[in-house]
Amino acid sequence: MKLGEIFPNESVSTTQGDLKIHDYFGDGWGIFFTHPADYTPVCTTELSMVQKMVPEFTKRNVKMIALSCNSVSDHGGWCEDIKAHGNLEEVSFPIIEDPSRDLAVKFGMLDPDEKDAAGLPLTARAVFIVGPDKKLKLSILYPATTGRNFDELLRVIDSLQLTAYKKVATPANWQAGGDCMVLPSVKGEEATKLFPKMRVEDVPSGKQYMRFTPQPE
Ligand code: BEZ
Repeated sequence: MKLGEIFPNESVSTTQGDLKIHDYFGDGWGIFFTHPADYTPVCTTELSMVQKMVPEFTKRNVKMIALSCNSVSDHGGWCEDIKAHGNLEEVSFPIIEDPSRDLAVKFGMLDPDEKDAAGLPLTARAVFIVGPDKKLKLSILYPATTGRNFDELLRVIDSLQLTAYKKVATPANWQAGGDCMVLPSVKGEEATKLFPKMRVEDVPSGKQYMRFTPQPE
């Protein structure tokens, strides 16, 4: 799947019943996490972290959905472990089942280096962020052995949501509220009009492309 493509509107079975991905995401943003398997330690820490961060995702109008290559009935038992690990009341987002790995193959998520007891490849840790237009805005693929940093995912959501509406890009290690870069496509007078506090950094090339601005409102 490529950035800018429409995210597949699959019909899926989940811990919260059958749904279609686009309907579930509704008019807002969506984040789709995939997991190698139920009852695995890294995944358990990840999903309890996601649940703890539900208020942060909700604040940003992002709906969460996870996928793991087991059945819904396995997911139900595993959710008890996720809750116990994170000292949580509930797992409030749906977890999709994919025991046949059909979705994993379709989404290109298989990790050839990690196999289950039957020798089948496990799903990698994919993250897909989908915009209100249902287009893929970001994808990251981690191997099964590396758990994700969910603070980083909130950071990229802040950047995606800002840059979707303002003519800026966010620099290295940017955090919400930090200075942004004026988009190279914004030239001359338009730049000074849109960003009156713009600061141009001198560089040896003499080219005036290092244009900083406070984060626009
Ligand atoms: C885990 O979630 O802990 C895990 C899953 C597959 C391979 C390695 C680790």
